[in-house]
Amino acid sequence: MWPYPKIIAHRGGGSLAPENTLAAMQCGLNRGFHAVEFDVMLTKDLVPVLLHDEKLGRTVAGQGQVSEMLAQDLFQLEAGSWFAPEFAGCRVPSYTQVLEFCAKNEIWMNVEIKPAAGFDTLTGKITGEITRDFYQKNTQFNAPLPLFSSFSLDALAAVKLAAPLIPRAVLFDQIPANWHEHLRALDAVALHTNQQHLTATLAHEIKQAGYGLSCYTVNEIARAHELLSWGVDALFTDRLDLIGADFT
Ligand code: G3P
Ligand code: MG
Repeated sequence: MWPYPKIIAHRGGGSLAPENTLAAMQCGLNRGFHAVEFDVMLTKDLVPVLLHDEKLGRTVAGQGQVSEMLAQDLFQLEAGSWFAPEFAGCRVPSYTQVLEFCAKNEIWMNVEIKPAAGFDTLTGKITGEITRDFYQKNTQFNAPLPLFSSFSLDALAAVKLAAPLIPRAVLFDQIPANWHEHLRALDAVALHTNQQHLTATLAHEIKQAGYGLSCYTVNEIARAHELLSWGVDALFTDRLDLIGADFT
């Protein structure tokens, strides 16, 4: 997986399709994207699924907390029509479905572990175990190993324990002064951060220390050039139409 793919489709297909769905990944693939970021959360019965929000209602028709819903009930709900009528019928995919889709299509994954409040360790552990077992069983795919990331340090500690051989990145909205300590403690290979707060000096420090560095969410060409000129390795973008897979 190293070095990073440079341009990564954010939440599956960025602004082209309903986030965190297989249709989104297919849209990215149709545009030549073989690198994707998505968010993973647990249902009540501990099934990892692709969702960004803890609550239903924004991208998935329904109400309530994902952590209080059984996977079989969640999979019945509409997850595409909020975005555009042609996506009606899209469903929330299970993480396992996505692992298969990405392996078959040789898509590199940044699996962002997005635990609902209170489920940090469990989400990291289960996501790690499923991923580890998938790559142990499915050697025929020759798929590149994914990269885990999370804002939750507890989730990262748990995924490290469950799947020590799969690399990790620490996600920060604003990079704290003790960022290096956190990366070291988790034996992380990279730091992912909000592009809005990154400075050239910090980028330089992180690269000098030997870590990968990725920024979300970069939707403007000038900013993309600037960040790459600072040594940033990879950009998460919603604008797959503007910042293409072959962006230089
Ligand atoms: O993983 C990078 C980025 O996706 C983090 O923010 O809120 O879009 O999951 P968010
Ligand atoms: Mg994310």
